[in-house]
Amino acid sequence: MNPDDGIQLIDYEPTAASFLEEALAGLRKPRKTLPCKYFYDERGSELFARICELEEYYPTRTEVAIMHEYVGEMAEAIGPGCAIVEYGIGSALKTRILLERLISPAACIPVDISREFLIRSAKELAGIFPDIEFLPVCANFSEPFELPPTKRKPSRAVAYFPGSTIGNLTSEETAALLRNMAKTCGSGGGLLVGIDLIKEVEKIEAAYNDNLGVTAEFNKNILRRMNRELGSDFDIEKFDHLAFYNSEDRRIESHLVSRADQSVRLGGEVFAFREGETVHTENSHKYDIEDFSAFAAEFGFTAERVWTDAGRLFAVVFLRID
Ligand code: AVJ
Repeated sequence: MNPDDGIQLIDYEPTAASFLEEALAGLRKPRKTLPCKYFYDERGSELFARICELEEYYPTRTEVAIMHEYVGEMAEAIGPGCAIVEYGIGSALKTRILLERLISPAACIPVDISREFLIRSAKELAGIFPDIEFLPVCANFSEPFELPPTKRKPSRAVAYFPGSTIGNLTSEETAALLRNMAKTCGSGGGLLVGIDLIKEVEKIEAAYNDNLGVTAEFNKNILRRMNRELGSDFDIEKFDHLAFYNSEDRRIESHLVSRADQSVRLGGEVFAFREGETVHTENSHKYDIEDFSAFAAEFGFTAERVWTDAGRLFAVVFLRID
């Protein structure tokens, strides 16, 4: 990138998994799946932005309200001179709220696998915060990576993982991510993470079954994207959105339900769907604060502070790395 804009990209050249390979692998399973990370093409990102504005979808506005209300306490818990490591960009708003209040941060290190998006959002943030050193890192954060050297030596490295994005991961993936974060940020570092809390099933289910059908469109968008990018021939009209709370596994499961017996072509293979058969597209885990803290403790994290809203819908937790 142009050195004149004062931002240097650190590129670990992550090998992006192939959409086609992952889609094929998911559809070959006896219980078909598709990875939710592929929801977010341009249209998918737009639809998600609309979801965040929906009456029923409480997580985003609740987390933003918690950030506004308690960011001073968060900055104090983190302390002066930190390097903030943002895992996955996407929520510029929450990052801005945090950066505005952090006490003389040494650097901001946004990490993402999407190079273009990463550069664009790092430039934007750097324009708003000219006194903060931005060091965008292109990496796959499901693997540990080394933090780039900063001009000022940071007091500690603190991972920021907002949005309950952690809820999309399986518990094995969460375990791996926590291990990697501990390795990347190191002893004495920290993690500030947003988690969606367990609550009445009706409220959770309504958030994923909005009246305007935006979430349904968001879910089906993965099929449109496959048709466009991978040349599959899904008939979008022949799939229904289904989202329900699985209370045993404490998660919302999103599926696409086949409305008929049908077959679909992808990458030279033909996939048969029975009427009523589903493709599992996403999990959104809900948490109990104590259980989450106990789980994180297994990987060397000690929960130090928790901020939540009056309705206890959502929590932002600060954990220290032992
Ligand atoms: C962006 C992963 C937090 O799981 O609630 C919203 C995505 N899916 N509606 C979530 C989503 C359906 C969202 N996350």
